[in-house]
Amino acid sequence: MNTQPYAEPWRIKMVEPLEILTREERIKKIRETEFNLFNLNAEDVYIDLLTDSGTGAMSDRQWSALMMGNESYGGSPSFRRLKETITELLGFPHVVPTHQGRAAENVLFSAMLKPGNVVPGNAHFDTTKGHIEFRNAIALDCTVDEASDINDHGPFKGNVDISKLRAGINKYGVENIPFMVLTVTCNSGGGQPVSMQNISEVAQVCREHKIPLFFDSARFAENAYFIKMREDGYQDKSIREIVKEMYSYADAMTMSAKKDGIVNMGGFIAMHDEELYRQCCTFNIMFEGYISYGGMSGRDMEALATGLMEGTEFEYLQARISQVAYLGAEICKLGIPIIRPTGGHAVYVDAKAFFPQIPQTEYPAQVLGVALYEEAGVRGVEIGTVLADRDPVTREERLPKMELLRLAIPRRVYTNNHMDVVAWGLKQIWEKRESYRGLKIKYEAPIMRHFTATFEEV
Ligand code: F0G
Repeated sequence: MNTQPYAEPWRIKMVEPLEILTREERIKKIRETEFNLFNLNAEDVYIDLLTDSGTGAMSDRQWSALMMGNESYGGSPSFRRLKETITELLGFPHVVPTHQGRAAENVLFSAMLKPGNVVPGNAHFDTTKGHIEFRNAIALDCTVDEASDINDHGPFKGNVDISKLRAGINKYGVENIPFMVLTVTCNSGGGQPVSMQNISEVAQVCREHKIPLFFDSARFAENAYFIKMREDGYQDKSIREIVKEMYSYADAMTMSAKKDGIVNMGGFIAMHDEELYRQCCTFNIMFEGYISYGGMSGRDMEALATGLMEGTEFEYLQARISQVAYLGAEICKLGIPIIRPTGGHAVYVDAKAFFPQIPQTEYPAQVLGVALYEEAGVRGVEIGTVLADRDPVTREERLPKMELLRLAIPRRVYTNNHMDVVAWGLKQIWEKRESYRGLKIKYEAPIMRHFTATFEEV
């Protein structure tokens, strides 16, 4: 075959210089934060893979759209443009703008959730779970078992296990299940996609029981890309056709636009039901802002309308997801264990296998995160025991099945040369992996401890 090599469908018009500290300076900086990666000053980080949320690079079209923002309190044409774009792409007639994804959850759940309710889903994201548990309701995880099996390399590890879902409905009763949340792609499970087949099966079960189906849509376009690449019958469909089909199964959605909307701030709720729309409007006015801006400025809504269209172009998604796969492949070549296949937005390194000498109660993924910053100035985030926090009742530490360092890649920001630096940094640590020891917690907040926890060496 003589196919032309593939490259990004954009070129760089503006650059942001990066500072590179020495290894000694970094060792000093991370000790000053008491091994807390969130508390590093961003300028002291060379390659920042803390999150792909709100960290993407906007295009020239998005920056020019900003100038078209209409900042009227009521009836802004920027809101109408955003709403029309969402209706065209996703099919929902009603749109409630919010300042980010968790705000959309807050508004929608305020309208829908009561104490004692149960919300089934596929590994709810932290803020989703937080908003459910805060209302004394239960987030019921129905993800397929393969999702937590590091040796399973299946194509759709974000899927819902239909028998777990049915068992949950039988156990808790439909009357206690106000809705179900399907997260596409499934962030907590490694950025893994949900197949169209599974989406339709989940929708079938929900319809049978008259349970509304909501999509947590932060990375919906990445999910559609995986369906196109991996699921029979979708190769010849466009991303937008696939997205339309995905959303034909949903009753409503929440969106953190900071991911696949490729903006730095923003979110929304969209739905079919007019009564639900009305209820959300009331909470939106209380928590977010008037119904035609909801915490976003007019210019933000313009940039988001443009970003949603760019984020659903095949060539863009190919560049994006190929870069994640590239980093994953480079790390695999070194023999370092990661979740495979790589997901849509991040590479997840298996810290338990990396540091078998460090018990989970001494936070191996946090140790790896600190080490990667020291070695290469790269910042990732711990998705392990620190994040899993304590049981709210027993106050015992919850030990998750997987102990991971997430390396989330911002959209259109870094080159593959940066990815090589990340892999090189991991290699330095891998070669002396026996020499690492654990950490213990010095300070932790009573809830959501991972953001502010400080540590000392064991
Ligand atoms: N849902 C999913 C699947 C997410 O990944 C996030 C955020 C949210 C909802 C909440 O949205 O941040 O706009 O309020 N995820 C970020 C991350 C923080 O780093 O994965 P938000």
